[in-house]
Order: sequence, then C-alpha cells, then structure tokens
Amino acid sequence: MVALLRVAACVLLLPFALSTPTPTPAESESDLVLTPSGYQNRANVHHVPSGAHIMHVADKIHVLHPNGTLFKVVTPKIKAPTPVVARSAASAAATMASGWITYASWVSSAPDTQPIKNFTTSFTSPQEPASNIGQTLFLFNGLCPADGTSIIQPVLQYGYSSRGGGSYWSSGAWYAFSNTEFFASPLEPTPDNWALNATIGLTNFTAGTGYTYAINMQGAPGAKLTVTSPQNLVWATIALESYGVTSIKNYPAGSTSFNQVSLLLSNGTVPAPTQSWAVFNNNTDGITTTVVANKFNGGVVKINY
Ligand SMILES: *[C@@H]1O[C@H](CO)[C@@H](O)[C@H](O)[C@H]1NC(C)=O
Ligand SMILES: *[C@@H]1O[C@H](CO)[C@@H](O)[C@H](O)[C@H]1NC(C)=O
Ligand SMILES: *[C@@H]1O[C@H](CO)[C@@H](O)[C@H](O)[C@H]1NC(C)=O
Ligand SMILES: *[C@@H]1O[C@H](CO)[C@@H](O)[C@H](O)[C@H]1NC(C)=O
Ligand SMILES: *[C@@H]1O[C@H](CO)[C@@H](O)[C@H](O)[C@H]1NC(C)=O
Ligand SMILES: *[C@@H]1O[C@H](CO)[C@@H](O)[C@H](O)[C@H]1NC(C)=O
Repeated sequence: MVALLRVAACVLLLPFALSTPTPTPAESESDLVLTPSGYQNRANVHHVPSGAHIMHVADKIHVLHPNGTLFKVVTPKIKAPTPVVARSAASAAATMASGWITYASWVSSAPDTQPIKNFTTSFTSPQEPASNIGQTLFLFNGLCPADGTSIIQPVLQYGYSSRGGGSYWSSGAWYAFSNTEFFASPLEPTPDNWALNATIGLTNFTAGTGYTYAINMQGAPGAKLTVTSPQNLVWATIALESYGVTSIKNYPAGSTSFNQVSLLLSNGTVPAPTQSWAVFNNNTDGITTTVVANKFNGGVVKINY
C-alpha cells in the first residue's frame, strides 16, 4: 500500500513537475536548453567531465574530476528554479505528446538500511527514426528518490540536448538534483543496433546520510558519472521521453526491448517476486510499455512505438 501510494506520488511529481511551464518575463527562449528533465535554464545545466564525481558537501554541490581534483562548485538554488518551458522550433510545431511518454516503474519499500544496490538493463540502440525533424528522444533506466524530484540516469538520446548530439543516437550519464541543478557527462555517439548494458550501482552508503551511485554504460564507456546523493533512491524506472515529435515516423519503428532487467538490494537479495513492475502510458499517441517478463532478475520491458 505504501509502495503504491509512493508510485502515485512519483508519477504525479516527476513527469509533470519537470515539464510544467510558467515562464518569467525575464526569461528568453535562448536561455532554455533541453535535458532529460525537460527544458531548463542554461545556467542550471552543468556539463561535467566523463567519470566526474558529484558530491553534496554541506549546502553546495562539488564536481570532482575523475582524479579527485575540483572541477566546479555549484550552489543549488534555494527555491524552485525558474519554471520550465518546452520551446524550440520543433517543440512549437509538436502535435504529439512530449515529456515522459511511457514507462515501467517499481518503488522499493525496503528500509534505508537496504537500498537498491544495482539496477541494470541490456538493450540495443534502435534503427534511427524514418523522419528527423529535430525531435529529441530519450530512452533510459533511472533511479529517483521517493518524491521523484531527483534522478540518476544512463541515457540513450536521439537528436539534440544541451549536451550535444544530432540526427543519430548518443549515450550520456545525467544527474538531476531536486528539479534544480542538472549535470551531464559528455555524449558518446552510438551506432544504430548497438548493444548497451546500462548500470546504476551503489558503491558505498551510510543509511539516511549519503548514497554513492556509479552510472556506467558498457558499449558507451564515456557515459560515466559517480554521484553521492543525500537521498536513498528507491524508485526504479525504465522510460521513453520525447520532445518535438509530430508524427509516429519521428520514433523508431517497432519496439525497444530492455532485457536482463535486474535489481539487487544492498543485502544481496533480489526484490521478492510477489512485487511487480507497474506501467504508465500517456495514451495520447498509442505508444506503450509492455512488461514481457515481470521480474527483477532477468526481467524484460518493451517499449512499443
Ligand atoms: C586532474 O585532472 C584534470 C583534468 O584532466 C587535470 O587538469 C588536472 O591537472 C589533474 N590533476 C592532477 C593532480 O593530476
Ligand atoms: C500526455 O502528454 C500531454 C503533453 O504532451 C499532456 O498534456 C497530457 O496530459 C498527457 N496525458 C497523460 C494521460 O498523462
Ligand atoms: C533483504 O532486504 C529485503 C528488503 O528489506 C528483505 O525483504 C529481505 O528479507 C532481506 N534478505 C536478507 C537475506 O536479509
Ligand atoms: C550490477 O549487476 C551487473 C549484472 O547484472 C554486474 O555486471 C555489475 O558488475 C553490477 N555492478 C555493481 C556496481 O554491483
Ligand atoms: C563511504 O562513505 C562514508 C561516509 O558515508 C565515508 O566515510 C567513506 O570514506 C566512504 N568509503 C569509500 C570507500 O568511499
Ligand atoms: C552486456 O552484459 C552481458 C552479460 O550480462 C554480456 O554478455 C555482454 O557482452 C555485455 N554487453 C556489452 C556491450 O558489454
């Protein structure tokens, strides 16, 4: 019951909180850049080195180079950031749904002393969409806190984001903190039909205080970040997100299958098989998620375009 309520809260908060617009007059369109958390102010989107370590230190966020030297210190905004607007030529013309389109979801109800240790999926980059009109697609597995305001995610992207890209697939690692500050590794161009293993692994934690997660993508080794989160990330998702889509031809054909979907808790156990993946579909455009194998050890989640 608690888990179900949490899912409901996340579903309400994340897709909509990250994409609901109210621009301030001072904001010009060019200040907004696209991230997997929707359009955000450029100043809040931080491009960090591959393998960077992002740590919360008192009220600041420190970004370290892989060798441990300081790259950047970010002072998170105290209040919510200037709200987000979906803009761009492609988005203005969009006639199909944008934001989180469809996803599978599971929320751990284990105590903070038993966080999720490992969330892995194996999938293959799709054939490029038949039609490119400047749309952006994001496919990913991610971990969020129960309130859905932050996310750690290895992301396969088609099209452009603030971090780059183009009319091809590319892979990157992203961290969004508190709907406020957004961090991205460099993007690694990724061929069509390319095998990827996307992993979020907990490498260290102190219950209730700090949880260190490493994002790695086998098949795209530059898509790499380590994040020490102040929060326990209990909500696992597998999602398709899109911006600027006007036709089903702007999506790949067929489906994308996330295979070997595996979750482990820190005590080494797989979540009990009595639990299951939930599915959310924005039914506007008929794009759906199917849970083909509803399990936490070798599960299969398919996104059907
Ligand atoms: C750490 O890495 C950064 C970026 O590559 C480099 O500029 C810096 O000199 C390195 N520092 C040390 C102590 O190796
Ligand atoms: C689908 O997405 C559109 C935005 O593109 C939104 O207006 C609509 O409320 C969403 N529908 C559901 C069921 O979430
Ligand atoms: C591991 O943690 C889960 C979640 O709290 C619990 O259900 C399970 O019994 C634990 N397993 C062991 C072997 O401790
Ligand atoms: C996570 O699990 C995968 C296999 O599912 C394994 O290859 C990987 O080493 C694990 N990573 C961590 C950090 O435990
Ligand atoms: C693990 O985290 C604790 C604090 O939560 C820290 O003291 C310790 O040095 C960390 N260990 C490693 C190997 O990073
Ligand atoms: C993904 O992991 C599987 C084993 O879990 C392995 O056989 C495969 O080679 C890995 N793929 C890549 C691209 O590393």
